[in-house]
Amino acid sequence: MNQGTSKKTKPLTTNKHLIRWVEKMAELTKPANIHWVDGSQQEYERLCHELVAAGTFVRLNQEKWPGCFYARSDARDVARVEDRTFICSLSKDNAGPTNNWIDPFEMRRKLKELFNGAMQGRTMYVLAFSMGPVGSPMARIGVQLTDSPYVVVNMRIMTRIGLPVLKEIDKGEARVVPCMHSVGMPLLPGQKDVAWPCNETKYIAHFPETREIWSYGSGYGGNALLGKKCFSLRIASNIARDEGWMAEHMLILGVESPDGEKTYVAAAFPSACGKTNLAMMVPPPALKGWKVTTVGDDIAWIKPDATGQLRAINPEAGFFGVAPGTSAKTNPNAMATLSRNAIFTNVALTPDGGVWWEGMTDEPPAECTDWRGQRWTPAIAAETGAKAAHPNGRFTAPAAQCPSIDSEWENSAGVPISAFVFGGRRSTTMPLVYQAFNWSAGVYVGATMGSETTAAATGTVGVVRRDPMAMLPFCGYHMGDYFRHWLKMQRALGSTPRVFHVNWFRKDENGKFLWPGFSENMRVLKWIVDRVHGRSQGKETPIGWTPYYEDIDWTGLDFSQEEFEKMQEVSRAAWRKEVLGHEELFIDVHDHLPPEMIYQRELLICRL
Ligand code: GTP
Ligand code: SPV
Ligand code: MN
Repeated sequence: MNQGTSKKTKPLTTNKHLIRWVEKMAELTKPANIHWVDGSQQEYERLCHELVAAGTFVRLNQEKWPGCFYARSDARDVARVEDRTFICSLSKDNAGPTNNWIDPFEMRRKLKELFNGAMQGRTMYVLAFSMGPVGSPMARIGVQLTDSPYVVVNMRIMTRIGLPVLKEIDKGEARVVPCMHSVGMPLLPGQKDVAWPCNETKYIAHFPETREIWSYGSGYGGNALLGKKCFSLRIASNIARDEGWMAEHMLILGVESPDGEKTYVAAAFPSACGKTNLAMMVPPPALKGWKVTTVGDDIAWIKPDATGQLRAINPEAGFFGVAPGTSAKTNPNAMATLSRNAIFTNVALTPDGGVWWEGMTDEPPAECTDWRGQRWTPAIAAETGAKAAHPNGRFTAPAAQCPSIDSEWENSAGVPISAFVFGGRRSTTMPLVYQAFNWSAGVYVGATMGSETTAAATGTVGVVRRDPMAMLPFCGYHMGDYFRHWLKMQRALGSTPRVFHVNWFRKDENGKFLWPGFSENMRVLKWIVDRVHGRSQGKETPIGWTPYYEDIDWTGLDFSQEEFEKMQEVSRAAWRKEVLGHEELFIDVHDHLPPEMIYQRELLICRL
């Protein structure tokens, strides 16, 4: 869309390093234009306008969906590509067996080739962004060079961008993480663009020592919005290890009791396993006076303060949430958040210029255009199984629009964390909730977490895999060292958060969920908060503390003790298999596995 004219906007910084790097990268990638992103509303609207003209965006019906846009990706670019994601540390051992590794020198050579002329005919956007409130001592700065205006407008929602960040850079104190991104489809003279440029060849490469990111060939989500998984998890986990804090795949929520007691909880669930839902949960009306507030739905940066209290910030400023299954019933706060100024990707377009996805309403629309751009009707779906929305179709929406947003969500010192919750998608074995006996037992619970795979990453869906702390695709160094880092954190803490494990996804013999989930999860949260404040006794089991039936507040829900016991069952046979699953992971990481993990496994086996 930029062929012909060659324009450069003036650098919006006085930082010589940044200017020189941008020049160097422009020499390599040879863009037609260079645009320094100021982050203004005007600029955002102009880019959206250009995206509409290019056919990437459809402007939605502005009366029903004010400020909203719709995009469809290339059908081969719909999710994170874990098999094309690389940790290029100097030593292979530092990446560990759970990461793909390529020698950094070899990778640099490869990337130089790929990026050579990669932006021809396109504009290179210089996008300065801050993860965390600008100027917060916990915030970090990156600059993404990208040839995707779609990425720029999404990053404007997901992070803090533009002039205020450049001003921080100009102070010259912050270390800036360079993030190179190209969709990998140069436009040669006369070549027509496509709505979603990308390349079959994809590389999502991280250089932990030099704190650099290079992403090639994809324009989708975590592959391309480099502030998210690449920076805030893979690179930040390395920074956090060096500096004594934690970068986690966690939501952060506040629980307010009827008498105003506020408790903050951080929870790690794998991709598409319920973080957004829990973070924005609306408690059932029967639990009068209880309130849940949202600090973040995907990533937490957590650091001990001077008193040894862990405090967390959400480094993001928006939500990139799974659309299918999101409805006024399951997540009214998300529905309100995405009702305006949102971008929808890979959902269905309705004839009246709105969006729809499976689960949004009980009644599907009579007709719509599906995420592939084809006509979709309930009859066609029944016949062919075609989905209107891709299972990893997503909305991008500003966090500030969320009705449940916490009053402290932009507090630059973060919010105090009293509990960590781990959880996976497990149709068997795992009870609804239990509490680890202590910190190291809790680290073991997180480290051995398993979950059925989802559509958030390409590959098989529905098989149980070990996903330690929900960080399997996101830990930027050796997983064994990561467990050690968790164990070591205890020393910096005055008191450690309590650690819990939940599973909303256990099923009966007929494949039906045993637990209604969603807002009813408040009952579990309430028990967790009670435990944190020492108000509930708990029952000792081989795997940890669990609630007695009477410990859960059942007001307004008809759930029998029998059903509860079934859901909480700890089957020795199933747990035997489970421990063997733990062992599989431990064998992989054995030469970096902290001895505490072995002791915990032994204790667990003894109790079983
Ligand atoms: P990422 O953004 O990929 O990191 O994922 P997330 O953890 O934020 O995922 P999200 O909250 O969007 O999870 C969506 C999926 O979890 C949908 O399929 C929901 O239906 C399902 N889900 C969320 N909460 C519950 C629950 O309490 N019970 C059941 N059965 N499903 C749930
Ligand atoms: C995830 O997959 O965990 C996400 C979505 O949060 S993405 O940003 O695409 O990684
Ligand atoms: Mn995520």
